[in-house]
Amino acid sequence: MTEVELRRLELRDLNAIEEIERSAYPTPWSRSMFASELAKPSSICLGAFDLASDELVGYLVISRYVDAWHVMNVAVAPDQRRRGIATSLLERLFEVTAGRGRRGYTLEVRVSNADAIALYERLGFKPRGVRRGYYTDNREDALIMWKDPISESDA
Ligand SMILES: CC(C)(COP(=O)(O)OP(=O)(O)OC[C@H]1O[C@@H](n2cnc3c(N)ncnc32)[C@H](O)[C@@H]1OP(=O)(O)O)[C@@H](O)C(=O)NCCC(=O)NCCS
Repeated sequence: MTEVELRRLELRDLNAIEEIERSAYPTPWSRSMFASELAKPSSICLGAFDLASDELVGYLVISRYVDAWHVMNVAVAPDQRRRGIATSLLERLFEVTAGRGRRGYTLEVRVSNADAIALYERLGFKPRGVRRGYYTDNREDALIMWKDPISESDA
């Protein structure tokens, strides 16, 4: 497994984020979307950096809306997948948010994205509904998943 350091993303990481983002999604987020998440006090943006080279290999963006945490974006560089990097990012996130967010964690994922659904299920997310035609590029449905909140004593 690639050894990674997890730390908050900063504006200087935007180039590396953009490169991974473009390789990860058919409709990637723009730079300004990431910049605005980085600036929001209600968002947590975490990066995984290769310990040897300090290169960004994956990231996660989560935002708190009222009393739930919304996983907005998780991506790992294609040549670094299946090494536990997304799992480490999400587990760190559960640690730093433990005890905050009464309703837990939620996300939307394309119904065809079996890789991501398998990852989320392994981490305790459960399917709770479908948003029809949620993705504007191909009108694909989104699966809505939820995970129960984590109390501070479980983290
Ligand atoms: C989804 C994604 C973030 C997973 O990142 P990752 O670092 O490879 O994930 P992990 O190594 O932590 O995987 C953990 C588990 O999730 C499941 N999983 C992840 N990728 C999988 C794949 N390609 N096929 C099947 N299961 C997969 C497996 O259970 C895996 O455990 P295992 O490797 O021991 O079998 C990555 O594939 C990615 O960036 N995809 C493109 C962007 C995307 O779709 N993001 C999610 C949008 S909602």
